[in-house]
Amino acid sequence: MERQRTFSIVKPDAMAKRVLGQILATFEEAGLSIIAGRIHTMTKAEAEQFYAEHKERSFFGELVDYMCSGPVFISVLEGDNAVTLNRTLMGATDPAKADAGTIRARFGDSIGANAVHGSDSPTSAAREIGLFFPEVA
Ligand code: RTP
Ligand code: MG
Repeated sequence: MERQRTFSIVKPDAMAKRVLGQILATFEEAGLSIIAGRIHTMTKAEAEQFYAEHKERSFFGELVDYMCSGPVFISVLEGDNAVTLNRTLMGATDPAKADAGTIRARFGDSIGANAVHGSDSPTSAAREIGLFFPEVA
């Protein structure tokens, strides 16, 4: 197994619900270590850069506004196969389709307000960590 780092965001809906602790516990219980983390409120420019791959999508404006709508918790998770493990813990993008017990099934409200972000590849993880935690990149 490959030791990896991945980038995580606990999104505004989950922060407002006060489930940050339960989500971080889920990461830790699965064997992921939180090696950097802080509460942060995204600027529009940060959210646009972060989700640049989606800029042509119909939901882009809504996504950016939502990600800036309140504080988030950004972190770097480290562990064996961290990228894939985190995506498995998160569940499908649409909480209604996410497997039972996953973070999005437990805490997501809708495809937009879906509790968490996780890097989708080691390449994305490196880019995303570099944007917010250059000190550990
Ligand atoms: P994320 O990047 O946030 O971890 O989510 P993901 O990989 O599972 O999904 P992605 O396709 O990268 O989409 C990014 C975020 O955009 C919002 N979205 N809204 N209204 C819609 O049809 C729609 N589709 C995607 C979601 O909040 C998704 O997490
Ligand atoms: Mg994505």
